[in-house]
Amino acid sequence: MSRERLSPEPASGGPVAPAIETKPRAGWTRSHLLDLDDFTPGEMETVMETAGAMKEVLGREVPRVPALRGKTIITLFYEASTRTRASFELAGKALGADVINVAAGGSSVEKGESLIDTVRTLQAVGADVLIMRHPSSGAPYLVTRHVECSVINAGDGWHAHPTQALLDVYTMRAHLGELRGRRVVIVGDIAHSRVARSNIWGLAAAGAEVVLCAPPTLLPAGMRPGEPGPEEPLALPRVEVETNIERAIAGADVVMALRLQKERMQSGLLPSIREYATLYQVTEQRLALARPGALVMHPGPMNEGVEISPAVARSLQSVVDEQVANGVAVRMAVLYLMARGKLS
Ligand code: CP
Repeated sequence: MSRERLSPEPASGGPVAPAIETKPRAGWTRSHLLDLDDFTPGEMETVMETAGAMKEVLGREVPRVPALRGKTIITLFYEASTRTRASFELAGKALGADVINVAAGGSSVEKGESLIDTVRTLQAVGADVLIMRHPSSGAPYLVTRHVECSVINAGDGWHAHPTQALLDVYTMRAHLGELRGRRVVIVGDIAHSRVARSNIWGLAAAGAEVVLCAPPTLLPAGMRPGEPGPEEPLALPRVEVETNIERAIAGADVVMALRLQKERMQSGLLPSIREYATLYQVTEQRLALARPGALVMHPGPMNEGVEISPAVARSLQSVVDEQVANGVAVRMAVLYLMARGKLS
């Protein structure tokens, strides 16, 4: 099969870094990335391989390639973010794009401008790619019906956070290789977590076995023990559900802790934070039940002492900082793949 060269950005006055080669991106036809619910194993493989090539670019003395030179990326965030927004900005700049950040606070949204008028305005000023985070599930889907530019979902309500799941899969694969048959335990507030939902889809595409662990009140409807099953099958791949954290973690290859999403939570779902921490915190004792060397992950931001103990968060098994670093390469990969599709 032929391979495609990703040309380097010549360093001004410095040595020219070697070109890198990526495998052909067979089957990549997406102009938007909204969720992983229809992601194929082939697409997952394509993103992983491309992210590996981007990681190599980021390791260069001049970590730049001009793949998106002349393109404009606008991030539009209606919710707070540190990792996602910073890594998308770095990813876009590493690919040579112009990147502009717009936060709803401080924008004309505060004067009453609607989401649709806002995105049409950003398209009119030249956006080729709109990367958006919004508190309402489905907002990026609505936006795709009103703009021609590419849209990437950087988190919508409880629904999806696809690039987080892609960087999580990338990080797992970097340590474990093939994920088929690996036991990945996600512990915490599953009900309100867009990270959990996208990871369920992403890990299914990667062939992993997913175990969800939470108190019944923090499991999605239709997954709670003793509850009558939903009339319609749940629109999620098959997962194991376990409300006892010790049983869930036993034999795990990966333990991913999630924070309590208080901003999306109704009151009364938990007796107290202290009780939750007693029953569900990922502690050293509980982690000892996992496979030796099991990875500890967290999408961030962490509330240490609640869903994860400080000792576990900073342990040698923790790959939390790696997840963040890999976010840049994975987001470069997604932008690059789109560039070879709709943007080119
Ligand atoms: N994981 C994640 O989405 O982090 P931020 O909210 O900081 O972007």
